[in-house]
Amino acid sequence: MARSKISVIGAGNVGATVAQFLVTKDLGDVYLFDVVEGIPEGKALDIYEGTPHWDVDSKIFGFTTKTPDVYKNLENSDVIVVTAGLARKPGMSRDDLLGKNIEIIADVAKNIARYSPESRIIVVTNPADIMAYAFYKVSGIKPERILGLGGSLDSARFRTFIAMELGVSVEDVNAFVIGGHGDDMVPFIRYSSVGGIPIEKLIPKERIDEIVKRTRFGGGEIVNFLKTGSAYYAPGISITAMVESIIRDKKRVIPSAAFLSGKHAEHYGVSGLFIGVPVRIGKDGAETIYDIDFQKDELDLWKKTVSSVKNSCETVDRILKQ
Ligand code: LAC
Repeated sequence: MARSKISVIGAGNVGATVAQFLVTKDLGDVYLFDVVEGIPEGKALDIYEGTPHWDVDSKIFGFTTKTPDVYKNLENSDVIVVTAGLARKPGMSRDDLLGKNIEIIADVAKNIARYSPESRIIVVTNPADIMAYAFYKVSGIKPERILGLGGSLDSARFRTFIAMELGVSVEDVNAFVIGGHGDDMVPFIRYSSVGGIPIEKLIPKERIDEIVKRTRFGGGEIVNFLKTGSAYYAPGISITAMVESIIRDKKRVIPSAAFLSGKHAEHYGVSGLFIGVPVRIGKDGAETIYDIDFQKDELDLWKKTVSSVKNSCETVDRILKQ
């Protein structure tokens, strides 16, 4: 089997951390790109030089994108992770990043469409569901090949908080978060369980409400601690899980921002944009979307998150037309 090639665009905290985890897990050769001269080369070489201790064959290379032709090195990537963009500072919402990050994503999208249009793409740049939409619009790449980071990270945080609450292994907590990767994401309580037991039987309602709230502001909690930037370890691990499911064709079901069309659009009441839903992720990208039924209160939450994502996508359309 040919070795896999995974490109990571953006060698900041998230990009470099993903690169490091990909190499640690020996998932393939990693090509790390950034606009800041020397950073991708330096970080890549630094990781590469540690690989003898890990007993892995993955190689890692860095490229400064001084001129657009440097993106030629993206050719034949199996997966491309897009992290380039500004991160949040305290007091900023993910949407505050919209204008600046659209410009960056548009440039990256054109280069990916030019050099590696067959890749599967994971858009991480925030606001991720909105940037996945902008990426799709500019690149024209098939939407099933594009996924946005959201539920993979938010569900990991939700599971961690449930495990902390009960003092149980995170392994036995099954729970997921759907909707946009923003403050009105929807941690899905009714389908959350610990060792198969619904959490509503184990945790009092007020505490569940606290956990839901903490999950929604999980990214902000880290931003407030770090002050100079946003989270990267849990994001790095959550992205690596998605890449692994594609590279090894694991078919894991990980909620992610996926493109809704056809019967899924009908079911979820929104069409033509990316939003967090449970997706089976395999070699082809977003292979199957699962339609989940909502009860009245859940539907209200769903409609709210859909409306925020929709509004931001309309802003993207306006900006892209300019
Ligand atoms: C977070 C950022 C990555 O949730 O959106 O930490």
